[in-house]
Amino acid sequence: MSDPAPTKRLFIKTNGCQMNVYDSERMADVLAPLGYAMTDTPDQADLVVLNTCHIREKATEKVYSELGKLKELKQARAAADGAVMTIAVAGCVAQAEGEEIMRRQPAVDLVVGPQAYHQLHELIARTHRARGERLAADFAPQEKFDALPQRRPGGVTAFLTVQEGCDKFCTFCVVPYTRGGEYSRAPQAIEAEARDLAAHGVREVTLLGQNVNAYSPPNDQGPNDKEGGGLAALVRRLAKIPGLDRIRYTTSHPRDMDEALIAAHGEVAELMPYLHLPVQSGSDRILKAMNRAHTAQSYLKTIAAIRAARPDIAISGDFIVGFPGERDSDFEATLALVREVGHASAFSFKYSRRPGTPAAAMPGQVAEAVKDERLARLNALLDAQARAFNESQVGRVLPVLFERKGRHPGQLIGRSPYLQAVHALAPDRMIGQIVAVRIEAAARMSLAGALVQPQLEPA
Ligand code: 5AD
Ligand code: SF4
Repeated sequence: MSDPAPTKRLFIKTNGCQMNVYDSERMADVLAPLGYAMTDTPDQADLVVLNTCHIREKATEKVYSELGKLKELKQARAAADGAVMTIAVAGCVAQAEGEEIMRRQPAVDLVVGPQAYHQLHELIARTHRARGERLAADFAPQEKFDALPQRRPGGVTAFLTVQEGCDKFCTFCVVPYTRGGEYSRAPQAIEAEARDLAAHGVREVTLLGQNVNAYSPPNDQGPNDKEGGGLAALVRRLAKIPGLDRIRYTTSHPRDMDEALIAAHGEVAELMPYLHLPVQSGSDRILKAMNRAHTAQSYLKTIAAIRAARPDIAISGDFIVGFPGERDSDFEATLALVREVGHASAFSFKYSRRPGTPAAAMPGQVAEAVKDERLARLNALLDAQARAFNESQVGRVLPVLFERKGRHPGQLIGRSPYLQAVHALAPDRMIGQIVAVRIEAAARMSLAGALVQPQLEPA
């Protein structure tokens, strides 16, 4: 046997969505055979990877300020002990503006787009000979997924990317340009990855995709096949894997919430009663300008159908305020929709003008002060609803999957079926178990409870 490679320190900073979290883990897997082990701070790192998000202007600007700090660290370390710190930029900003990154920040050694992560180790080796590699542009997800090494999951929950890209072209969004068109992985490959995760102790997977409910692998029979086709069939297939007890998926588009998937919510016990289904606005005029291809009414109908299948489902969403042309009456329609649905949680954003997207050139751009005021009002409503939803759990007994130790001695933290964080006093051996917890108190972001007897699983 040859000697193991000497340990080098790898620090990965992840911004943006869960797909970046998955990608960062996979980059660590690719680099492990080169002797890179993860570290918690960039201070002593040999390689720093910044995994970036391009969705809003703020996220993009953050990259340049973070790179400024890394440059200082790199220079300080070179001056102190001659250490070489390699800086790589990954993710959607790397894909969208790789050349600009290299130009604006000379301390960057390497830029790598999301479809080239499987080649990261080669790039790093080459970078040590010459600066300035940029690997991005072409969209070839299949090649990447086929080439990525086996995973080494570290916890009891895991993300699993099943779909990438988007063909929807909402007029505000950069994703179709940065991540390319929709691509779905083959179900066999996904099942193999899920089985491997389960064999390593993972009990809950979240299936990821920019448009995950548009999942449709090549040769799929569509909604008429035995298991319903698309994401519904994939969920049913994964639900059969022993040890994998919880399945979630995100992010979805209302347009792709088909009957088979709605039925799965009522029939597949492993599919958790929580759905992130962004609606963006409650005004049909704005939804049309956004090119969302649904109305407020059709969204409400979809929600009603899902609730008929799974009455306790918690609905979450994304909202944008201050889209070009949004009047007070449009914004009021958004508030009315939020009240009607009773979202249990949500993410809300001020519209951010993204160069190259149709909305950036639309007339009627909304003043920042108006966006601020609308966001504050929307958040007040969403917060109140989130709190009310959490409070409605007090007194109930929920199955909680414990994931890790809490901040206080003897405390564990887990998740309810509705994705709420739950704290309880419990022995460490319960990490990885689904345990009955009586909910005793609720805050805006989490619940607190106590173990009840008898337990759902043998302790
Ligand atoms: N401005 C503000 N929010 C945006 N999102 C996407 N693009 C923009 C933009 N230009 C939000 C949407 C989407 C979420 C991931 O980010 O709400 O669902
Ligand atoms: Fe962006 Fe719309 Fe595609 Fe979602 S569905 S990634 S918001 S273009």
